[in-house]
Amino acid sequence: MPTVPFETRDARIAFNRPSSNVRALKQIRRMRGGSQSHLMKCSDGNYYVVKFQNNPQHKRILVNEFLGTRLAEKMGLPTTPCAIVRVSETLIAQTSNLVVELPRYRVPCSAGLQFGSRYVGNPSSKTLQTLPRYELPHVSNSSAFVGMVVFDKWVCNIDGRQFLFELGHKAYTMVAIDQGFCFYGGEWNFHDAPMWGFCWDKSVYRGVKSIEDFEPWLSRLEGFNMDTIVEAADGIPTEWYDHDASALGRLLEQLNRRRKKIRQLLVEWGPKLPLIFPHWEMPKLTVPVSLRQTA
Ligand SMILES: Nc1ncnc2c1ncn2[C@@H]1O[C@H](COP(=O)(O)OP(=O)(O)O)[C@@H](O)[C@H]1O
Ligand SMILES: [Mg+2]
Repeated sequence: MPTVPFETRDARIAFNRPSSNVRALKQIRRMRGGSQSHLMKCSDGNYYVVKFQNNPQHKRILVNEFLGTRLAEKMGLPTTPCAIVRVSETLIAQTSNLVVELPRYRVPCSAGLQFGSRYVGNPSSKTLQTLPRYELPHVSNSSAFVGMVVFDKWVCNIDGRQFLFELGHKAYTMVAIDQGFCFYGGEWNFHDAPMWGFCWDKSVYRGVKSIEDFEPWLSRLEGFNMDTIVEAADGIPTEWYDHDASALGRLLEQLNRRRKKIRQLLVEWGPKLPLIFPHWEMPKLTVPVSLRQTA
């Protein structure tokens, strides 16, 4: 049985309004990647990597980004603030580079409400997408690499896990970005597969020996409830999901049902993934007393 009745839940979602709104002032440059995002200067003085409703992947990736980032935030994982960015028709018309490039033609990026991920670091210098392996254990929040595994398994991220690294005074800090392919991308369903959602450099998971190493994130996730999840979805523009509140409602409900499944998934998969968790401790074989006596 659903925890929250459909009518109640849909009503709560449908009445929400965008929670943070900024205006895009200027396009800075195109970013790499399949969603064809753009770095933009916005009215709050910050820079955002903006993904447009008519991106070539799926309109729902804007929901995935917003909801995924907020859920990760609620788990205490390092993300960058997200915003709903209003892009005007005038800015689109005046910026020849604000286009979506498809194999045979180009179309202007859509005007209206888009997703923005606050730029990590300084836009004039490139934030690092990778670090040499010897630097990874010294990342100031390196324990969160494992926390992101809990998150990615929960939300069924079918992409590799992407991080950015920002150099602080003494060390790098990691931030998790790109939640576009959480919830099985535009499909919004969940097929669990052991190998999805890991970072390109598996050495970040080397310290994992047992399910205990996924704390405190696993317990935090188990402590969530439907309200935590609905709260994270609060303010998503309804046009990002074609005003289909039932589809969004079903997604949130599935997320709530899956929370307590992740521990079991990790217990099952951990020992079967030696390339990812080479030090996972195998359960000790206990020989029954009767057999020991006859040996
Ligand atoms: N908040 C951010 N700060 C800095 N760079 C970012 C941020 N978000 C995305 N990027 C960069 O923009 C590019 C595209 O972003 P990403 O979220 O990976 O989208 P895609 O779905 O296209 O892969 C990547 O190069 C990524 O490193
Ligand atoms: Mg990406």
